[in-house]
Amino acid sequence: MMNIAVLASGNGSNFQAIVEAAHDKKIKSKIKILVVDVETAFARQRARKYGIRDIFINPAGCKDREEFDKKIIEVLEEENIDLIVLAGFMRILCSFFVAKYKDRILNIHPALLPSFKGDAAIKDAYEYGVKVTGVTVHFVDEKVDSGPIILQQAVTVSSDDDIKSLEEKIHKVEHKLYLKAIQLIEEGRISVQARRVIIKS
Ligand code: GRF
Repeated sequence: MMNIAVLASGNGSNFQAIVEAAHDKKIKSKIKILVVDVETAFARQRARKYGIRDIFINPAGCKDREEFDKKIIEVLEEENIDLIVLAGFMRILCSFFVAKYKDRILNIHPALLPSFKGDAAIKDAYEYGVKVTGVTVHFVDEKVDSGPIILQQAVTVSSDDDIKSLEEKIHKVEHKLYLKAIQLIEEGRISVQARRVIIKS
């Protein structure tokens, strides 16, 4: 069994999907803590509802990114965390953090990487006029939306989609795909060879 920490900045729908999956025994890991960098993040309310410890680490109270990351690491060590799941966490982790937890930090991105990196991916893809976009779950490295890809799933953009309906479709896929990635890791079926993630059958 792994201990998971979720890092979020906002809504927390992916966090909730993971918590519910753990509760329903769809994943074996224990969700130990939610760490947020925004005091008012709605994800915290979800954590409280499910009885999960949540902690706000204030970036404004840290002298630099390194100090902020060290505070997160302290919490992760306290909780014996094995896997860190970023779910709408709007910060780049420092290289010492990423190195310490190499291949143990996941991120989810609402587009098919390497297309539409950044924090407006759904809107950018919609406005670009793509017919197919999707969701990517990847390991985190020092760059934004750039680590080795674990899973991707396509989402079709139809003519009657607007941004809102596309967002809804993408979030639905996200909540399932994140669980699948966590399950694969729990089952020890994932290895990383350079940029390629190999999934054992
Ligand atoms: C998701 O679309 C995720 O792909 C992106 O941020 C959003 C977070 O949504 N990284 P939520 O907070 O989990 O609802």
